[in-house]
Amino acid sequence: MIEKDGAYVFEDSPYIQQILTVLRDARTDTIAFRRNLVALGRYMAYELTKTFPIERLTVQTPLARTEGVRIRMDKITLVVVLRAAIPFMEGVIKVLDNAKVGIISASRGSPPDFSIEIKYVRVPNIDDDTLIIIDPMIATGSTLIKVLEECRKCGNPKRKIIMGVLAAPAGVGRIKKSYHDVEIYVAAMDSTLNDKGYIVPGLGDAGDRAFNTEFE
Ligand code: URA
Repeated sequence: MIEKDGAYVFEDSPYIQQILTVLRDARTDTIAFRRNLVALGRYMAYELTKTFPIERLTVQTPLARTEGVRIRMDKITLVVVLRAAIPFMEGVIKVLDNAKVGIISASRGSPPDFSIEIKYVRVPNIDDDTLIIIDPMIATGSTLIKVLEECRKCGNPKRKIIMGVLAAPAGVGRIKKSYHDVEIYVAAMDSTLNDKGYIVPGLGDAGDRAFNTEFE
C-alpha cells in the first residue's frame, strides 16, 4: 500500500487493481458488480490485517510443537453506510469475522450544498474498539463527516478507519481537516469530482450499480 493525498492506497496490489478495473467497467452488470464488490471487500480487509497487532504462540501439530501467529482482531466494529456498503461489508466480514456491526443510513442531497440526511443509526458502544467505517465512495466527504459525528456519540474508539473503493483528494482533505486521526484505505485515488459530486473517472453510482436501480 502507498500513501497518496492523505489516504493509504492499495495501488501496489495487482489483484485488487484487477477487481477495481471490473468495477469501473461500464459493461459490468449488476450481478458481476456485486460479486466483485464482495471480493474487493475481502481482499482489502486481508490487506488491512497487516496493520493489526499480532501475538506469537505455539501450536501442537499432529507431529510436534511449532511457532504460530494470531492476529489481534478481538475488538472491531464495522459501521456500514447504506446502501452500497452492504456487499462491500459482506466481503470485509469474511476476514474480520468476529466484528460487531453497526448501520447508518445517510443520503446525499443535490448540489451545490449536497446536504446529508441521516435517517437511521444503530451503532453499538465502540469504546476502545477499532472502528472501521465502510463506504465505497469517498467523494465530497460530507457523508463521512456526518457518519463520524454519529459514531462519536457511541464511544471513543482506539483507531478510526474508513474503508472505501475510491476516493477523491477533496473529500479526503475535508475529512482529515475535521478528523486528522482517521486512517483512510482505498483501492485507488481518483483525480476529481464532477458538478454532481461524482468521482471521475470513478465507477458511477455504486448503489445503483450494486442494486440494479436508477433513481436519477
Ligand atoms: N457515490 C457514488 O456512488 N459514486 C460517486 O462517484 C460518488 C458518490
